[in-house]
Amino acid sequence: MSSTVNSWKISSAQAEELARQHGTPLYIYDSKIVRRQIDSFRAAFSRFDHRIHYAMKANSNTSLLHLMKELGMGIDAVSIDEIRISLEVGFYASDIIFTPNGVAFEELQQAIDLGVRLNIENLSYLEKLGEAHGGDVPCTLRVHPGLVIPEASRDATGWYQRSRFGIDRQQIPLALQIIKKHAIRVEALHVHSSSMILDETVFGAAAEILIDLARELPDVVALDLGGGIRPPHHADDDHPDLDALARSLEKPLSEFQQETGRKLQLWFEPGRYLVSECGLLVTRANVIKKVGDRTVVGVDTGFHQLIRPKLYGARHEIVNLSRPEGPLHDYDICGCLCEEDELAGNRSLPQVHEGDLLGILNAGAYGFSMASTYNSRPLPAEVMI
Ligand SMILES: Cc1ncc(COP(=O)(O)O)c(C=O)c1O
Repeated sequence: MSSTVNSWKISSAQAEELARQHGTPLYIYDSKIVRRQIDSFRAAFSRFDHRIHYAMKANSNTSLLHLMKELGMGIDAVSIDEIRISLEVGFYASDIIFTPNGVAFEELQQAIDLGVRLNIENLSYLEKLGEAHGGDVPCTLRVHPGLVIPEASRDATGWYQRSRFGIDRQQIPLALQIIKKHAIRVEALHVHSSSMILDETVFGAAAEILIDLARELPDVVALDLGGGIRPPHHADDDHPDLDALARSLEKPLSEFQQETGRKLQLWFEPGRYLVSECGLLVTRANVIKKVGDRTVVGVDTGFHQLIRPKLYGARHEIVNLSRPEGPLHDYDICGCLCEEDELAGNRSLPQVHEGDLLGILNAGAYGFSMASTYNSRPLPAEVMI
Protein backbone atom coordinates (compact mmCIF):
# COMPACT_ATOMS: atom_id res chain seq x y z
CA MET A 1 0.00 0.00 0.00
CA SER A 2 1.26 3.46 -0.72
CA SER A 3 0.09 7.02 -0.25
CA THR A 4 0.18 9.58 -3.06
CA VAL A 5 -0.68 13.15 -2.21
CA ASN A 6 0.90 15.98 -4.15
CA SER A 7 4.13 14.38 -5.35
CA TRP A 8 4.80 12.28 -2.31
CA LYS A 9 4.74 8.56 -2.82
CA ILE A 10 5.84 6.37 0.05
CA SER A 11 4.79 2.85 0.93
CA SER A 12 3.69 1.90 4.42
CA ALA A 13 6.67 -0.46 4.61
CA GLN A 14 9.15 2.27 3.56
CA ALA A 15 7.71 4.74 6.07
CA GLU A 16 7.87 2.10 8.80
CA GLU A 17 11.46 1.22 7.86
CA LEU A 18 12.61 4.87 7.96
CA ALA A 19 10.78 5.36 11.27
CA ARG A 20 12.50 2.25 12.65
CA GLN A 21 15.93 3.51 11.55
CA HIS A 22 15.57 7.13 12.67
CA GLY A 23 12.70 7.15 15.16
CA THR A 24 9.69 9.44 15.09
CA PRO A 25 8.91 12.25 14.68
CA LEU A 26 10.98 12.33 11.51
CA TYR A 27 11.34 14.88 8.73
CA ILE A 28 11.89 13.20 5.35
CA TYR A 29 12.97 15.33 2.36
CA ASP A 30 12.65 14.07 -1.20
CA SER A 31 15.49 15.45 -3.34
CA LYS A 32 13.61 14.66 -6.59
CA ILE A 33 10.93 17.17 -5.65
CA VAL A 34 13.53 19.87 -4.95
CA ARG A 35 15.11 19.26 -8.36
CA ARG A 36 11.72 19.43 -10.04
CA GLN A 37 10.83 22.72 -8.33
CA ILE A 38 14.15 24.28 -9.32
CA ASP A 39 13.65 23.12 -12.91
CA SER A 40 10.17 24.61 -13.07
CA PHE A 41 11.34 27.91 -11.56
CA ARG A 42 14.21 28.10 -14.04
CA ALA A 43 11.99 27.21 -16.98
CA ALA A 44 9.51 29.99 -16.15
CA PHE A 45 12.20 32.67 -15.95
CA SER A 46 14.54 31.26 -18.62
CA ARG A 47 13.75 34.19 -20.97
CA PHE A 48 15.71 36.44 -18.57
CA ASP A 49 19.31 36.48 -17.41
CA HIS A 50 18.52 35.43 -13.84
CA ARG A 51 20.05 34.04 -10.65
CA ILE A 52 18.35 32.20 -7.84
CA HIS A 53 19.46 32.70 -4.24
CA TYR A 54 17.72 30.04 -2.16
CA ALA A 55 16.24 31.58 1.04
CA MET A 56 17.85 29.15 3.45
CA LYS A 57 15.74 30.30 6.39
CA ALA A 58 13.06 28.04 4.89
CA ASN A 59 15.19 24.96 5.52
CA SER A 60 18.87 24.99 6.39
CA ASN A 61 19.42 21.23 6.48
CA THR A 62 22.98 20.74 5.25
CA SER A 63 22.19 17.86 2.86
CA LEU A 64 19.61 20.11 1.28
CA LEU A 65 22.13 22.97 1.09
CA HIS A 66 24.64 20.66 -0.62
CA LEU A 67 21.95 19.79 -3.15
CA MET A 68 21.20 23.49 -3.69
CA LYS A 69 24.89 24.13 -4.29
CA GLU A 70 25.13 21.21 -6.72
CA LEU A 71 22.13 22.61 -8.61
CA GLY A 72 23.71 26.04 -9.00
CA MET A 73 21.75 28.03 -6.43
CA GLY A 74 23.15 30.98 -4.49
CA ILE A 75 22.03 31.75 -0.94
CA ASP A 76 19.84 34.37 0.69
CA ALA A 77 21.03 34.46 4.32
CA VAL A 78 19.58 36.34 7.28
CA SER A 79 22.19 35.81 9.98
CA ILE A 80 25.94 35.56 10.26
CA ASP A 81 25.54 31.90 11.21
CA GLU A 82 23.54 31.17 8.06
CA ILE A 83 26.45 32.74 6.18
CA ARG A 84 28.98 30.56 8.01
CA ILE A 85 26.94 27.41 7.36
CA SER A 86 26.70 28.23 3.64
CA LEU A 87 30.43 28.90 3.40
CA GLU A 88 31.12 25.55 5.10
CA VAL A 89 28.84 23.84 2.59
CA GLY A 90 31.00 25.37 -0.15
CA PHE A 91 29.02 28.34 -1.46
CA TYR A 92 31.21 31.19 -2.68
CA ALA A 93 30.88 34.36 -0.60
CA SER A 94 29.96 36.25 -3.78
CA ASP A 95 26.95 33.94 -4.22
CA ILE A 96 25.57 34.80 -0.79
CA ILE A 97 23.32 37.79 -0.12
CA PHE A 98 22.95 38.90 3.48
CA THR A 99 19.62 40.56 4.33
CA PRO A 100 19.83 41.58 7.99
CA ASN A 101 17.48 43.70 10.05
CA GLY A 102 17.66 44.81 13.65
CA VAL A 103 21.16 43.42 14.22
CA ALA A 104 24.18 45.49 15.22
CA PHE A 105 26.24 46.92 12.34
CA GLU A 106 29.14 44.73 13.59
CA GLU A 107 27.28 41.73 12.13
CA LEU A 108 27.16 43.45 8.74
CA GLN A 109 30.86 44.20 9.11
CA GLN A 110 31.58 40.51 9.72
CA ALA A 111 29.68 39.68 6.54
CA ILE A 112 31.66 42.34 4.65
CA ASP A 113 34.91 40.81 5.96
CA LEU A 114 33.76 37.44 4.62
CA GLY A 115 33.09 38.97 1.18
CA VAL A 116 29.33 38.47 1.23
CA ARG A 117 26.91 40.80 -0.60
CA LEU A 118 24.79 43.10 1.56
CA ASN A 119 21.13 43.97 1.22
CA ILE A 120 20.53 47.26 3.09
CA GLU A 121 17.02 47.84 4.39
CA ASN A 122 17.26 51.05 6.45
CA LEU A 123 18.95 54.44 6.42
CA SER A 124 20.92 53.72 9.59
CA TYR A 125 22.81 50.81 7.96
CA LEU A 126 23.21 52.82 4.76
CA GLU A 127 24.82 55.73 6.60
CA LYS A 128 27.11 53.41 8.59
CA LEU A 129 28.10 51.53 5.45
CA GLY A 130 28.92 54.81 3.72
CA GLU A 131 30.90 56.14 6.69
CA ALA A 132 32.91 52.94 7.04
CA HIS A 133 33.50 52.02 3.40
CA GLY A 134 32.40 54.81 1.06
CA GLY A 135 32.13 53.30 -2.40
CA ASP A 136 34.38 50.30 -1.67
CA VAL A 137 31.62 47.90 -0.62
CA PRO A 138 28.74 47.64 -3.10
CA CYS A 139 25.28 46.88 -1.80
CA THR A 140 21.69 46.15 -2.67
CA LEU A 141 19.01 48.62 -1.54
CA ARG A 142 15.84 47.03 -0.13
CA VAL A 143 12.63 48.91 -0.79
CA HIS A 144 9.47 48.65 1.35
CA PRO A 145 6.79 46.54 -0.38
CA GLY A 146 4.09 49.15 0.25
CA LEU A 147 5.73 51.03 -2.60
CA VAL A 148 5.22 48.24 -5.01
CA ILE A 149 2.04 46.29 -4.54
CA PRO A 150 -0.67 47.65 -6.86
CA GLU A 151 -3.75 48.95 -5.05
CA ALA A 152 -6.02 46.44 -6.75
CA SER A 153 -4.02 43.45 -5.67
CA ARG A 154 -3.26 44.26 -2.06
CA ASP A 155 -4.31 41.24 -0.08
CA ALA A 156 -6.87 41.46 2.68
CA THR A 157 -4.31 40.72 5.38
CA GLY A 158 -2.61 44.08 4.77
CA TRP A 159 0.79 42.38 4.97
CA TYR A 160 2.38 45.05 2.76
CA GLN A 161 1.34 47.75 5.26
CA ARG A 162 2.40 45.92 8.39
CA SER A 163 5.71 44.91 6.89
CA ARG A 164 8.55 46.83 8.45
CA PHE A 165 11.14 45.68 5.95
CA GLY A 166 12.78 47.96 3.45
CA ILE A 167 13.16 51.69 2.92
CA ASP A 168 9.87 53.54 2.87
CA ARG A 169 8.77 55.68 -0.10
CA GLN A 170 9.09 58.88 1.98
CA GLN A 171 12.71 58.01 2.77
CA ILE A 172 13.91 57.31 -0.75
CA PRO A 173 15.10 60.93 -1.31
CA LEU A 174 17.09 60.71 1.93
CA ALA A 175 18.56 57.38 0.85
CA LEU A 176 19.64 58.96 -2.44
CA GLN A 177 21.33 61.79 -0.52
CA ILE A 178 23.29 59.34 1.64
CA ILE A 179 24.29 57.32 -1.41
CA LYS A 180 25.53 60.48 -3.13
CA LYS A 181 27.32 61.82 -0.05
CA HIS A 182 29.39 58.63 0.39
CA ALA A 183 29.51 57.62 -3.29
CA ILE A 184 27.99 54.24 -2.29
CA ARG A 185 27.77 51.76 -5.15
CA VAL A 186 24.23 50.39 -5.25
CA GLU A 187 24.43 47.38 -7.56
CA ALA A 188 20.93 45.96 -7.08
CA LEU A 189 17.47 47.01 -5.95
CA HIS A 190 15.36 44.63 -3.92
CA VAL A 191 11.79 44.10 -2.86
CA HIS A 192 10.21 41.11 -1.15
CA SER A 193 6.57 41.79 -1.91
CA SER A 194 4.95 39.27 0.44
CA SER A 195 5.12 35.70 1.60
CA MET A 196 1.98 34.74 -0.22
CA ILE A 197 2.11 36.17 -3.70
CA LEU A 198 -1.14 35.44 -5.50
CA ASP A 199 -1.30 38.42 -7.84
CA GLU A 200 0.50 37.57 -11.06
CA THR A 201 1.21 41.22 -11.92
CA VAL A 202 3.16 41.90 -8.75
CA PHE A 203 6.64 41.26 -10.18
CA GLY A 204 5.94 43.58 -13.11
CA ALA A 205 4.68 46.28 -10.75
CA ALA A 206 7.75 45.83 -8.56
CA ALA A 207 10.05 46.04 -11.58
CA GLU A 208 8.46 49.32 -12.69
CA ILE A 209 9.03 50.94 -9.29
CA LEU A 210 12.56 49.62 -8.96
CA ILE A 211 13.39 50.68 -12.51
CA ASP A 212 12.35 54.25 -11.70
CA LEU A 213 14.94 54.16 -8.96
CA ALA A 214 17.51 52.45 -11.22
CA ARG A 215 17.34 55.48 -13.51
CA GLU A 216 18.87 57.50 -10.67
CA LEU A 217 21.43 54.87 -9.73
CA PRO A 218 23.75 54.10 -12.66
CA ASP A 219 25.59 51.25 -10.87
CA VAL A 220 22.45 49.12 -10.62
CA VAL A 221 22.87 45.93 -12.65
CA ALA A 222 20.15 43.75 -11.11
CA LEU A 223 16.65 43.76 -9.68
CA ASP A 224 16.08 41.34 -6.82
CA LEU A 225 12.42 40.37 -6.57
CA GLY A 226 12.76 38.41 -3.34
CA GLY A 227 10.76 35.28 -2.59
CA GLY A 228 7.17 34.71 -1.61
CA ILE A 229 5.96 32.43 -4.39
CA ARG A 230 4.04 29.69 -2.76
CA PRO A 231 3.24 26.27 -4.09
CA PRO A 232 -0.23 24.92 -3.27
CA HIS A 233 -0.52 23.33 0.17
CA HIS A 234 -3.75 21.46 -0.49
CA ALA A 235 -6.03 20.64 -3.40
CA ASP A 236 -8.05 23.89 -3.30
CA ASP A 237 -5.12 26.15 -2.44
CA ASP A 238 -4.64 29.17 -4.69
CA HIS A 239 -1.21 29.67 -6.16
CA PRO A 240 0.27 31.94 -8.82
CA ASP A 241 1.25 30.90 -12.32
CA LEU A 242 5.00 31.36 -12.70
CA ASP A 243 4.74 32.01 -16.44
CA ALA A 244 2.32 34.86 -15.82
CA LEU A 245 4.65 36.32 -13.19
CA ALA A 246 7.50 36.12 -15.68
CA ARG A 247 5.43 37.69 -18.48
CA SER A 248 4.64 40.68 -16.26
CA LEU A 249 8.37 41.48 -16.23
CA GLU A 250 8.91 41.56 -19.98
CA LYS A 251 7.60 45.05 -20.77
CA PRO A 252 9.28 47.07 -18.00
CA LEU A 253 12.64 45.37 -18.56
CA SER A 254 12.70 45.66 -22.33
CA GLU A 255 11.52 49.29 -22.24
CA PHE A 256 14.27 50.15 -19.77
CA GLN A 257 16.84 48.42 -21.95
CA GLN A 258 15.70 50.28 -25.07
CA GLU A 259 15.71 53.59 -23.25
CA THR A 260 19.08 53.27 -21.48
CA GLY A 261 20.97 50.42 -23.13
CA ARG A 262 21.21 48.78 -19.69
CA LYS A 263 20.21 45.11 -19.53
CA LEU A 264 19.23 44.31 -15.97
CA GLN A 265 19.75 40.89 -14.47
CA LEU A 266 16.98 39.42 -12.30
CA TRP A 267 17.63 37.85 -8.94
CA PHE A 268 15.10 35.79 -6.98
CA GLU A 269 15.07 34.45 -3.43
CA PRO A 270 12.52 31.65 -3.30
CA GLY A 271 12.31 29.57 -0.13
CA ARG A 272 9.04 27.73 0.18
CA TYR A 273 8.53 27.32 -3.57
CA LEU A 274 11.68 25.20 -3.75
CA VAL A 275 11.37 23.14 -0.58
CA SER A 276 7.86 23.13 0.86
CA GLU A 277 6.59 20.13 -1.04
CA CYS A 278 9.74 18.04 -0.58
CA GLY A 279 9.14 17.64 3.15
CA LEU A 280 7.04 15.03 4.92
CA LEU A 281 6.81 15.06 8.72
CA VAL A 282 6.23 11.50 9.89
CA THR A 283 4.64 11.13 13.31
CA ARG A 284 3.30 8.23 15.37
CA ALA A 285 -0.32 8.18 16.54
CA ASN A 286 0.05 7.07 20.16
CA VAL A 287 -3.35 7.84 21.68
CA ILE A 288 -6.87 7.83 20.32
CA LYS A 289 -9.53 9.26 22.64
CA LYS A 290 -13.05 10.63 22.64
CA VAL A 291 -13.67 14.17 23.90
CA GLY A 292 -17.38 14.95 23.59
CA ASP A 293 -18.20 14.24 19.98
CA ARG A 294 -14.62 14.71 18.78
CA THR A 295 -12.15 11.93 18.19
CA VAL A 296 -8.69 13.14 19.08
CA VAL A 297 -5.56 11.49 17.74
CA GLY A 298 -2.58 12.24 19.97
CA VAL A 299 0.68 12.20 17.99
CA ASP A 300 4.32 12.42 19.01
CA THR A 301 5.05 15.72 17.24
CA GLY A 302 3.54 19.17 17.89
CA PHE A 303 3.92 22.86 17.29
CA HIS A 304 7.45 22.72 18.67
CA GLN A 305 8.31 20.86 15.44
CA LEU A 306 5.81 22.33 12.99
CA ILE A 307 4.59 25.72 14.13
CA ARG A 308 2.92 26.88 10.90
CA PRO A 309 -0.64 25.75 11.78
CA LYS A 310 -0.42 27.53 15.14
CA LEU A 311 1.45 30.61 13.96
CA TYR A 312 -0.20 31.27 10.61
CA GLY A 313 -3.30 29.07 10.67
CA ALA A 314 -1.63 27.12 7.87
CA ARG A 315 -3.38 23.99 6.66
CA HIS A 316 -1.19 20.96 6.01
CA GLU A 317 -2.69 17.84 4.46
CA ILE A 318 -2.30 14.77 6.65
CA VAL A 319 -2.32 11.14 5.49
CA ASN A 320 -2.45 7.84 7.28
CA LEU A 321 0.76 6.26 6.01
CA SER A 322 0.09 2.93 7.71
CA ARG A 323 -3.47 2.61 6.34
CA PRO A 324 -3.81 4.74 3.19
CA GLU A 325 -7.13 3.15 2.26
CA GLY A 326 -10.35 2.33 4.02
CA PRO A 327 -13.52 3.98 5.26
CA LEU A 328 -12.99 7.57 6.39
CA HIS A 329 -13.44 8.88 9.95
CA ASP A 330 -13.17 12.44 11.27
CA TYR A 331 -10.32 13.31 13.61
CA ASP A 332 -8.67 16.21 15.37
CA ILE A 333 -4.92 15.65 15.23
CA CYS A 334 -3.24 17.01 18.35
CA GLY A 335 0.41 17.22 19.32
CA CYS A 336 2.17 16.03 22.45
CA LEU A 337 2.92 19.43 24.03
CA CYS A 338 1.28 20.48 27.26
CA GLU A 339 -0.66 23.15 25.33
CA GLU A 340 -3.73 23.31 23.11
CA ASP A 341 -1.51 21.80 20.48
CA GLU A 342 -3.92 21.14 17.60
CA LEU A 343 -2.12 20.49 14.32
CA ALA A 344 -5.26 19.89 12.28
CA GLY A 345 -8.97 19.89 13.11
CA ASN A 346 -11.75 17.86 11.60
CA ARG A 347 -9.76 15.77 9.13
CA SER A 348 -11.13 12.73 7.33
CA LEU A 349 -8.64 9.88 7.39
CA PRO A 350 -8.85 6.12 6.90
CA GLN A 351 -9.47 4.77 10.39
CA VAL A 352 -6.47 5.54 12.59
CA HIS A 353 -5.28 2.91 15.06
CA GLU A 354 -2.86 3.51 17.88
CA GLY A 355 0.63 2.89 16.51
CA ASP A 356 -0.15 4.08 12.97
CA LEU A 357 2.24 6.43 11.22
CA LEU A 358 0.75 9.68 9.94
CA GLY A 359 2.42 11.92 7.35
CA ILE A 360 2.09 15.72 7.43
CA LEU A 361 2.62 17.07 3.93
CA ASN A 362 4.29 20.25 2.63
CA ALA A 363 6.47 20.32 5.70
CA GLY A 364 9.76 21.10 3.94
CA ALA A 365 9.66 24.89 4.41
CA TYR A 366 9.62 26.64 7.80
CA GLY A 367 9.18 23.27 9.53
CA PHE A 368 12.39 22.04 11.11
CA SER A 369 14.02 25.45 10.65
CA MET A 370 11.43 26.98 13.04
CA ALA A 371 11.49 24.06 15.49
CA SER A 372 12.25 24.53 19.18
CA THR A 373 12.91 22.35 22.18
CA TYR A 374 9.82 23.58 24.06
CA ASN A 375 8.71 21.16 26.83
CA SER A 376 12.35 19.94 26.77
CA ARG A 377 11.57 17.82 23.74
CA PRO A 378 14.57 17.20 21.49
CA LEU A 379 14.61 18.26 17.84
CA PRO A 380 13.43 15.54 15.45
CA ALA A 381 15.70 13.67 13.06
CA GLU A 382 15.85 14.68 9.40
CA VAL A 383 16.65 12.42 6.48
CA MET A 384 16.98 13.13 2.78
CA ILE A 385 16.05 10.49 0.23
C1 LIG B 1 13.89 38.99 1.97
C2 LIG B 1 13.27 37.67 1.82
N1 LIG B 1 13.62 36.91 0.76
C3 LIG B 1 13.10 35.67 0.60
C4 LIG B 1 12.18 35.15 1.49
C5 LIG B 1 11.66 33.77 1.25
O1 LIG B 1 10.28 33.77 1.16
P1 LIG B 1 9.50 32.47 0.70
O2 LIG B 1 9.98 31.33 1.51
O3 LIG B 1 8.07 32.81 0.95
O4 LIG B 1 9.80 32.28 -0.76
C6 LIG B 1 11.78 35.90 2.60
C7 LIG B 1 10.83 35.37 3.58
O5 LIG B 1 10.53 35.88 4.60
C8 LIG B 1 12.33 37.21 2.77
O6 LIG B 1 11.99 37.99 3.80
